[in-house]
Amino acid sequence: MPSGCRVGQCESCSTKVIKGSTTHLNGAEHSDEGCCLTCVAIPTGDIIIDA
Ligand code: FES
Repeated sequence: MPSGCRVGQCESCSTKVIKGSTTHLNGAEHSDEGCCLTCVAIPTGDIIIDA
């Protein structure tokens, strides 16, 4: 998968969340609610992502 900073800042790892939700390590936030930053994302349950 594409990645850059790997600390939740550059959004190059942005991936659409099709089903379920995630939270992010270190308080990282994504600018698009329907996506997650896979380098720091933690699933809150079962998820499906567009990867
Ligand atoms: S690799 Fe930079 S935010 Fe994920």
